[in-house]
Amino acid sequence: MSGVAAPSGSGVAADGCVAPTAAGACAARHVAIIMDGNGRWAKARFMPRALGHSRGVEAVRKLVRGCRGLGLEALTLYAFSSENWRRPADEVSDLMGLLKRFIISDIDEIAENGVRLKVIGDWRALPADIVGLIEGALARTAANTGMTLAIALNYGSQAEIARAASRAAAKALSRGEGPHVTPEAIAAELDTADMPPLDLVIRTSGEVRLSNFLLWQAAYAEMAFLPVLWPDFTVDHMKAAIDDFARRERRFGGR
Ligand code: FPP
Repeated sequence: MSGVAAPSGSGVAADGCVAPTAAGACAARHVAIIMDGNGRWAKARFMPRALGHSRGVEAVRKLVRGCRGLGLEALTLYAFSSENWRRPADEVSDLMGLLKRFIISDIDEIAENGVRLKVIGDWRALPADIVGLIEGALARTAANTGMTLAIALNYGSQAEIARAASRAAAKALSRGEGPHVTPEAIAAELDTADMPPLDLVIRTSGEVRLSNFLLWQAAYAEMAFLPVLWPDFTVDHMKAAIDDFARRERRFGGR
């Protein structure tokens, strides 16, 4: 674990590790994943991209099931970025269809397993039928106290930070404090404000960039860039990344 106190407002627990494992390592509480490589997975098999995305949903389903044994408090998945609208219309439509079907077919299992569903990003701008499904799914799982599964939809981190800063400034102005905002005030307005600090960002497919995902929240997170395409990602990859995170944290705390 880290002995370094993080700056307040960073979204990081000030005392570093708050979830030590029995072995004294630091357990990950919140993992976020950039699920990349569906297209390449399909291309390598001479299959349509839509099939790659559909296998990607299957990987999500298995991972959410498998996470039950990992002790995570939160898992955030980057499913559709605000930049993904620039993809061809048929691919956007495929992704929206998969999202709809995922909510319809998996919400019972998610709810029954005590998972709290959360959606981050400007999801209310999605098609009305999806917004309705999301509202129902959020209400259905709101009281659950198990892992939080946050799905980033129509999400862009720079826009999220700008929205949070505007809200923080408006609140400061309404208190007569002028347009002065602090990191703490911005962090409190982020979509993830009610989630544990982000410990680990995983990106599949070998690409090494954050692509406008959780830029504020990742300030002190560890990074794992894995050479596996998203449809091939399994709970064993997840376990290995979390174990590696725990080792990295333990080394840092030893200094
Ligand atoms: C990036 O791979 C992946 C996406 C843009 C979509 C991710 C969506 C899913 C995994 C399915 C939907 C998720 C849920 C929760 C229902 P890419 O297509 O850009 O791959 P490429 O870089 O190999 O072309």
